Amino acid sequence: MINVLVNGANGRMGKEAVNAINNDDALNLVGEIDYQDDLAATIDSLKPDVVVDFTAASAGFNNTKTILEHGARPVIGTSGFVESQVQELQALSQEKGLGGLIAPNFSVGAVLMMKFSAEAAKYLPDVEVIEAHSPQKEESPSGTGLRTAEMISAARTAAPQTTSDKELIEGARGAELHGVKLHSIRLPGVVAQQTVFFGGLSETLKIEHNSQHRESFMPGVVLACKKVVERQQLVYGLEHLMD
Ligand SMILES: NC(=O)c1ccc[n+]([C@@H]2O[C@H](COP(=O)([O-])OP(=O)(O)OC[C@H]3O[C@@H](n4cnc5c(N)ncnc54)[C@H](O)[C@@H]3O)[C@@H](O)[C@H]2O)c1
Repeated sequence: MINVLVNGANGRMGKEAVNAINNDDALNLVGEIDYQDDLAATIDSLKPDVVVDFTAASAGFNNTKTILEHGARPVIGTSGFVESQVQELQALSQEKGLGGLIAPNFSVGAVLMMKFSAEAAKYLPDVEVIEAHSPQKEESPSGTGLRTAEMISAARTAAPQTTSDKELIEGARGAELHGVKLHSIRLPGVVAQQTVFFGGLSETLKIEHNSQHRESFMPGVVLACKKVVERQQLVYGLEHLMD
């Protein structure tokens, strides 16, 4: 049995995680904490194998560090990590010999969308990403959008065409990471959507993913809780635990 603590348990994702863990025979929910609780002290007293964290972008890095420093394995859904933070946490996990995961997206379909996009980028280097989330999302672009741009950039075998970036209104052409344009939509009624829009010679290709309910992320969370206990280093992206 794998003992799991959920941090951010009063939030929308935290509540889903609590349900998913309670419904899985191999996982044992040992605690639910939120903003007012002391993460380090709770880990010391409950000694969970795994801590699932769905809190806030401003807290994700420090929470992950605390989880590792107190001997538990982080399964992090909280967004907002930059590359240097992920590298620092990977080094810490290696030093402690603890597995872990930071997942920009826990949905299996979204991970496949990113993989298929990386594959398509080998042949179609001209691509832009359009992501949509609820207005409550703290930061833009989304972690999934950023991760998609990183994967496309690593897979591209040719440079994209240059485009005119003369903007009549600032922001019209979106943000850019590694030569991939990213456009963020924030609307009520949306959970998480992303379209990866490729252009070629007289053809276009769209790879699209929709999360219609937050439960769509839970098979990935449950899988991660089971896999990180077998690992000795933190990985970035659910795809590393699926293969
Ligand atoms: N990786 C994924 O698949 C995925 C999917 C959806 C959302 N997210 C991310 O998960 C995070 C949570 O999303 P949500 O929709 O549940 O938000 P939410 O606002 O509904 O819930 C966040 C909860 O965390 C608590 N919290 C905030 N700061 C905290 C801290 N420092 N310590 C402990 N608890 C704290 C809040 O009180 C709240 O209960 C966000 O960063 C969001 O972008 C990730």
